[in-house]
Amino acid sequence: MAGSFKKRNRIGVKRSKIIGMGHYKPENIVTNEDLVQIMNTSNEWIIERTGIEERRWFNPEKDTVSNMATKASKMAIEKAGIETKDIDFIVFATITPDYFFPGSGVLMQRELGLQGIGALDIRNACSGFIYALSVADQFIKTGMYKTVLVVGSEIQSSALDKSDEGRSSSVIFADGAGAAIVQATDEPKGVLSTHLHADGDHAEELYVKDPGSSRKVRLSKELLDGKSFNLTMNGNTVFKHAVVRFSEVINEALEANGKSKEDIDLLVPHQANLRISNFVQKQFQLPDEKVYNNITKLGNTTAASIPIAMSEALEEGRIKDGDLICLAAFGSGFTWASALIEW
Ligand SMILES: CC(C)(COP(=O)(O)OP(=O)(O)OC[C@H]1O[C@@H](n2cnc3c(N)ncnc32)[C@H](O)[C@@H]1OP(=O)(O)O)[C@@H](O)C(=O)NCCC(=O)NCCS
Repeated sequence: MAGSFKKRNRIGVKRSKIIGMGHYKPENIVTNEDLVQIMNTSNEWIIERTGIEERRWFNPEKDTVSNMATKASKMAIEKAGIETKDIDFIVFATITPDYFFPGSGVLMQRELGLQGIGALDIRNACSGFIYALSVADQFIKTGMYKTVLVVGSEIQSSALDKSDEGRSSSVIFADGAGAAIVQATDEPKGVLSTHLHADGDHAEELYVKDPGSSRKVRLSKELLDGKSFNLTMNGNTVFKHAVVRFSEVINEALEANGKSKEDIDLLVPHQANLRISNFVQKQFQLPDEKVYNNITKLGNTTAASIPIAMSEALEEGRIKDGDLICLAAFGSGFTWASALIEW
């Protein structure tokens, strides 16, 4: 339908601030004992290697990547005390979009009744939310937009190989959505800096190969009989790179702002694996109350993990005005990223 849409004016402010966060967790809880029923694993193995006790898997009758994101966004909009129509732009991080194309940003936009504004999809896996936040921050700093909705939403469970062969990754990944309202501010606080990195040399260490476009036929009976539609991960390699990159990129954020590790009030790491978070916590000598983890109950929700964690941390009173919050992520690509925020 053709129509005239509101034109957005450039406003010329220099800093962005998160003014509200929300999340959506699918109702369907899958415990380690549930996994024992479908693959050769144990509660003890999963807890020892990943820290995960249970995770949420979507309900195919009810949940989609875009409608979970819509629910998280509505909560963020309410917490921010703004109206949906105040949003100027959408940045949607997911590697599990509803369709091959278009992206999920436009689908969520339609559900929110925001037709006409720009919607950008970001495909940077576990680093996706920080990449998306960085894009929003740049648009706000240049004065292009005043209020940006940034979301991370994923349905990983439908790509998992739930046979014994795929058990090392299928016990880890899960589904959910988180959202942030990022707005221009004249205050001297907010997003202090973001730091983005990638190294495509390791693209195939953690990936879903199909349905890939670079072959004569995108789908075939032979392909469907194979495992190339499943998430494939070389867990050992991912672990070794993750612990190095997490530390590097946190240090980069601290140095860029003249801060030290003692200044961090809360580290919100991407919920990759509790062992990785614990390793990073130890390296930075942070006490338990300065690191937020919810992977035990939610598993690894890729781009959704950081916004869900931040939203829950806010609800629990773990983030307060003036706190220095450090976000850090590592994942498929490889990609890794950090952000330092004065709340
Ligand atoms: C995936 C991960 C938990 C596997 O742990 P690991 O200690 O490296 O285990 P390995 O893959 O070497 O396997 C060790 C043994 O456990 C077995 N195993 C693997 N998955 C298992 C499961 N779910 N249950 C029981 N046993 C399992 C393996 O078959 C292997 O058995 P073997 O010694 O008889 O051959 C670990 O590599 C990891 O945490 N990687 C990082 C993953 C991550 O964070 N991904 C997200 C990035 S965003």
